[in-house]
Amino acid sequence: MASRRQFFQMMLGSFSFLLPRYFRSPSSAAATSIFNPAAVAPEKYWEFVREQFPQPKDEVFFNNGTLGAMPTPVVEKVVDSLQELNRTIARWDYRPNHPRWFTGYAPENEIREKMARIVHCDVEELALTQNATMGMNEIAMGLDLQPGDEVIQTDQEHPGGSCGWLVREKRHGIVYKTVKIPVPPNDPGEIIQRFADALTPKTRVLAIPHITSALGTILPVKEIVQMYKQRGAFTVIDGAQAVGQIPVDVKDLGCDAYFSSPHKWLLAPAGNGLLYVNKESAPNIWTILASSQWDNQKDPGYRLQQRGTGSLPLLIGLGAAADFFFSIGPERWLSRIKELGDRLRAGLQKIDGVEIYSSVHPKMCAGMTTYRVTTWKAAAMQDFFWEKRKMRPRAINDRLGVRHSVHIYHSEAEIDAALEVVQEMAATPAPKSP
Ligand SMILES: Cc1ncc(COP(=O)(O)O)c(C=O)c1O
Repeated sequence: MASRRQFFQMMLGSFSFLLPRYFRSPSSAAATSIFNPAAVAPEKYWEFVREQFPQPKDEVFFNNGTLGAMPTPVVEKVVDSLQELNRTIARWDYRPNHPRWFTGYAPENEIREKMARIVHCDVEELALTQNATMGMNEIAMGLDLQPGDEVIQTDQEHPGGSCGWLVREKRHGIVYKTVKIPVPPNDPGEIIQRFADALTPKTRVLAIPHITSALGTILPVKEIVQMYKQRGAFTVIDGAQAVGQIPVDVKDLGCDAYFSSPHKWLLAPAGNGLLYVNKESAPNIWTILASSQWDNQKDPGYRLQQRGTGSLPLLIGLGAAADFFFSIGPERWLSRIKELGDRLRAGLQKIDGVEIYSSVHPKMCAGMTTYRVTTWKAAAMQDFFWEKRKMRPRAINDRLGVRHSVHIYHSEAEIDAALEVVQEMAATPAPKSP
């Protein structure tokens, strides 16, 4: 049987730059690939991936829908570059060939290129922002709208996807409308029909999530976008929960704009965001956060990332998160999330007394499942998970229960153990509320 050391050596190789410092060794360079799944059985491979995360093995983090756990190589990149930046600060001479040491002014094309590859657009269409909220605001505040113009959202928006439109309603008299998404949402056709019914001659904007926040529903965005675009609406998609959870191809979706928070499913450091604006649609968006590039119409992504001085190490961490994603492979990463999500949902469906509010339609669900043991309150469910197995899903509210996000750092055994906890909960009288 291979020793732990041999095992790591077998897995080490061309991606070793991504590894935590303590895994690196001179001999590792000769090995094939760190993330070479062909070398081991699948669960062994995922065990190795889990080794890249520093959380104690007996603590299971299931709240990735809020903030992802960062892999150690990503954290190390941030820390190392912060130290390097500080150590070499006196060498900064403002010459073009000097290693960059601050951000907010440079286009950061290398990192934009990685993000553009993940969502499938051109570099000039991609702006590095700070999070989804900022992307939403850049569009909601940057678009010319007249009093009476209608903006359509769902009734399940996160404030970071909706509040800019509410400001416009109060400030400029636009009409804010929502389409009700059924709970649970298991019929994409019904949802498409509801959006068709909401269209009017005054509809100017469609602004909906790719994946909803509380229930993790994958909406039939492509069909809805197509319908609204045919009627001349500007379409913007909130992909805060989508990038790194499901495949995202903005060109295939056909939307005008798309924004996300890579600190969730792409496991990047918080403080990073991305905003895509289609080249043809970009002239419709005014710069609202303006600095030297505010009128750069040739590179609209650069124009929309005028943040002033910010943290280069955090941005480098975003690049490292993208490298980590590519080194595992988008297909393998995204399928693993889907498989673990399906495993959880299949198990939950077998437990009496559990109601699932998320979709179980194969095309409408991936890594997030929101459910309740009907006799229990959400906070009590969350506490029970921690008391029994140090597991941390997120309590949503007493109507919806807990939201359970699964990611590549989970094992099948952890999903099964979570199901045992739910089983026990369902067989136990709910604790009295304090
Ligand atoms: C669908 C959706 N949109 C927007 C946001 C806001 O993200 P952020 O706080 O990173 O800007 C969230 C956060 O959970 C979300 O789930």
